[in-house]
Amino acid sequence: MNTASVAQTTQPLFDVQAVRGDFPILSQQVNGKPLVYLDNGASSQRPEAVLQAMDSYYREMHSNVHRGAHTLGDRATDAFEGARIKVQQFLNAASAQQIIWTRGTTEAINLVAHGLAAQLKPGDEILLSQMEHHANIVPWQMLAERTGAKVVPIELTPNGELDMESYDSLLSERTRILAITHVSNVLGTINPVAEMVAKAKAHGVITLIDGAQAVPHFQPDVTALDCDFYVFSAHKLFGPTGIGVLYGKVELLEAMPPWQGGGEMIEKVSFAGTTYNTLPYKFEAGTPAIGEAVGLGAAIDYLANLDRSAMEVAENGLLQRANELVPSVPGMTVIGTAANKVPLMSFKIDGLHPSDIGTLLDQQGIAVRTGHLCAMPLMELYGLPGTARASFAFYNTQEEVEQLFAALQKIQRLFA
Ligand SMILES: Cc1ncc(COP(=O)(O)O)c(C=O)c1O
Repeated sequence: MNTASVAQTTQPLFDVQAVRGDFPILSQQVNGKPLVYLDNGASSQRPEAVLQAMDSYYREMHSNVHRGAHTLGDRATDAFEGARIKVQQFLNAASAQQIIWTRGTTEAINLVAHGLAAQLKPGDEILLSQMEHHANIVPWQMLAERTGAKVVPIELTPNGELDMESYDSLLSERTRILAITHVSNVLGTINPVAEMVAKAKAHGVITLIDGAQAVPHFQPDVTALDCDFYVFSAHKLFGPTGIGVLYGKVELLEAMPPWQGGGEMIEKVSFAGTTYNTLPYKFEAGTPAIGEAVGLGAAIDYLANLDRSAMEVAENGLLQRANELVPSVPGMTVIGTAANKVPLMSFKIDGLHPSDIGTLLDQQGIAVRTGHLCAMPLMELYGLPGTARASFAFYNTQEEVEQLFAALQKIQRLFA
């Protein structure tokens, strides 16, 4: 048996060229070069199936939802609520009433931080980590300002993992909330959230997991994780912008006050007083992002038709190839070398500012993110003005990784 057939029998195959054909945006030239899109951590691209689902929603069934007045309204409501059920199944949540539509991860975290205010008193502590995105820092700082509670960051190890000794030492009777990212948008580190939630529960701590960078790479199981809240944005999961998800435990959602007031979220309104709708509608004031919900449902269906374990092997192969090529660029350092990472690489190159790296790569048709990546406390920790970040999706190829490094070698040679 030759080695190629051994590899075929031991590793699931992922047909990257076939999936690339599903993403029309990828087959274009940028600055005269074929587009190499490596900014998936900021926002990924949409497959034809999502574009078509949204197009046919608007062409064939658009109307407002939950009005029960006519046929189009019923169709729109079915499509909208059908998408909620797809999200419920995607997260393995017990019921669809636990799935609340938001504008994205940021709004979902703000909603929870707003809703938990009554449960905090001065001196209480909210544990985060030094690797959080601003979206999982600032809402908690605002909550701390309102309540007299304190935001306390868990420290990191030098390679960019959470320091579990720091976590253990910070968990105390003062801790009320743990808000932690599942995957770091800068370091790529996959955090041991199940273990962290279990420890937090033992102290009666409310837990929120920011899944924004996790869901594009693997499917979380909120029931197994036993977290109180899990949040993510559709636009990183190959779905539309403008919609995201808050999953929550029923008893906590029931105990939280509404987020915004208006139509949809009420049961009865009078000038003597208003009563609120049941879950999930209590948190969904106003006309929701119906077409976007339909698009997210289509993205989840699209992913369900792919072999996600083969996809993971292919994605890990991209990171492995990138790691192999790092020594080929003199002065290049990877920021975040955790053992358990998603395919994402933040880096610096001696003598080059990150924003110059981004501009020079763009001239080669290669899109990466540069700057503080919405994680200023982490940049401060590493003493960096910012980084460049290549973040891969399942539709990226080994050749694209090689193109990135060939471009970096040239940039380093000419400009560093
Ligand atoms: C880890 C993490 N959390 C939160 C966010 C915020 O997501 P959004 O801007 O979609 O609300 C991001 C976006 O990059 C992120 O990477």
